[in-house]
Amino acid sequence: MGSCAAVEEFSEVRVTDRKGEEYIIRLYDHTKDREKVIEMYETFNPELRCLGLPPTTRKGIENWIDYLASSGFGLVAERDGRIIGHVVIVPTEDKKNVDVTIFVHQDAQNRGVGQELMKRIIEYAKKAGYRGIMLVTERTNARAIHVYRKLGFEVVDPYFEYDMYLDLRDGK
Ligand SMILES: CC(C)(COP(=O)(O)OP(=O)(O)OC[C@H]1O[C@@H](n2cnc3c(N)ncnc32)[C@H](O)[C@@H]1OP(=O)(O)O)[C@@H](O)C(=O)NCCC(=O)NCCS
Repeated sequence: MGSCAAVEEFSEVRVTDRKGEEYIIRLYDHTKDREKVIEMYETFNPELRCLGLPPTTRKGIENWIDYLASSGFGLVAERDGRIIGHVVIVPTEDKKNVDVTIFVHQDAQNRGVGQELMKRIIEYAKKAGYRGIMLVTERTNARAIHVYRKLGFEVVDPYFEYDMYLDLRDGK
């Protein structure tokens, strides 16, 4: 991907969730983790899908994961060898910003995992020199909007879906 200078600098972190259970956040490794991430999405509660994602078929999930791996930078949250959360940034066409996508498996939601993953990817994007992080969510997705706002994202286009942006430049 674009300015990937900080890739080597991401080291695994051990985190305790809000129920007192430990998990790790580490770099996504497409060779080792592809199958485990697909499994997370194959068992993802379809009622919690957002903007048509994750895809509902195995083939659709594979294509999506392969696309994200080839064009972006990802982190996973893992507990007992199982992937419970996945966040990816993909540079925009002009390479100045990144788009972020995040999913936490329903078994691990509401324990702070999403916020931890977001914090790490924000730090990474900042270090890598991106100007900001963009995302789109559904206007009815109160939990996701709460998390994004808490981390500093602002709504930039509320008319159809919710377009939000986090400016990473110093002093902003
Ligand atoms: C959105 C998502 C990534 C957040 O991850 P998570 O691990 O569940 O979130 P966290 O536990 O870190 O934080 C949840 C926060 O939302 C709050 N929350 C929970 N339900 C809420 C609701 N219905 N409305 C508003 N806030 C809510 C929690 O209190 C917590 O806030 P707090 O830290 O101030 O107490 C995850 O829930 C998810 O994958 N959802 C389904 C898919 C999705 O919406 N993805 C987003 C891309 S569109």
